[in-house]
Amino acid sequence: AGAAFAVSALVCSTAFAQTIGFSQVGSEGDWRPAFSANMQESAKDYGIDLKFANAQGKQEEQLRAVRAFIAQGVDAIIIAPVVVTGWDQVLQEAKEAEIPIFLVDRDVEVKDPSLYVTRISADFNLEGKLAGAWLAAESKGTCKIVELQGTTGSAPAIERKKGFEAVIGQFPAMEIVATQSGDFTTEGGKKVMEAFIKSTNNLDGICASFAHNDNMQLGAIQAMKEAGLKPGKDVLMVSVDYVPAIVEALKAGEANASVELRSAVGKFIYPVILDYLKSPQELPKWIVIPSDLHTAN
Ligand code: AHR
Repeated sequence: AGAAFAVSALVCSTAFAQTIGFSQVGSEGDWRPAFSANMQESAKDYGIDLKFANAQGKQEEQLRAVRAFIAQGVDAIIIAPVVVTGWDQVLQEAKEAEIPIFLVDRDVEVKDPSLYVTRISADFNLEGKLAGAWLAAESKGTCKIVELQGTTGSAPAIERKKGFEAVIGQFPAMEIVATQSGDFTTEGGKKVMEAFIKSTNNLDGICASFAHNDNMQLGAIQAMKEAGLKPGKDVLMVSVDYVPAIVEALKAGEANASVELRSAVGKFIYPVILDYLKSPQELPKWIVIPSDLHTAN
């Protein structure tokens, strides 16, 4: 009887399993692969059949994946959009196919907000503000800063910059003197910092490096060490994500602060989607996951 019950329970759960397509940005840095792994693992806990598509950082790949999910007739689609623009058409196609869209992590700019149900993510603007406020306190409001930006046109690059600038704009002696995109990668961050080292005569007079993610900061740390500089001592190092490698850099005194972006997002998003699929209803347009600042001491 026990075996019969187990089999019928399995049949039931299979019959009701929801199929969800997830279009992920790519696998840049350390944070995103951790986030992908959590989404895939956590889907199993919720009995979700997750179709995972890695866009390798290309929006055209995401558009293709979303259209493929629509053609397969999945129950819902999750998108972590590479950039904010260029989504209206494909989201309209999903709406016409009556497949609800959920945004995770990054944001979109669309004319019609009803094209997606909700976005579940951290507040990137707040992350920039936390980084800026920490730096303002640490430098006592006097600091020339080099900035390593994330992927151009992506929500975290736009919002972290805005939040950071909103805070340092309150301090007349704080300014960004050089800024460039390192595309959220370690290699990109290293190249950008090498260019800054050249253009500023070995970071002469520079008090801080603000990187939109830890991996770019880790690349910047390498570049500075190769140039004989002491990251974390000669220059204050503040970034976002709080990945294990930056935790090590904080312990070693080569980084000073990092704002944590949680990668365990499945437990926040899947219950929302499953409830919605059971009884569709209007949700707030943004469900915010908290962020925290971590420092070396
Ligand atoms: O969208 C979040 C950002 O994307 C993370 O901070 C960064 O590491 C990733 O590439």
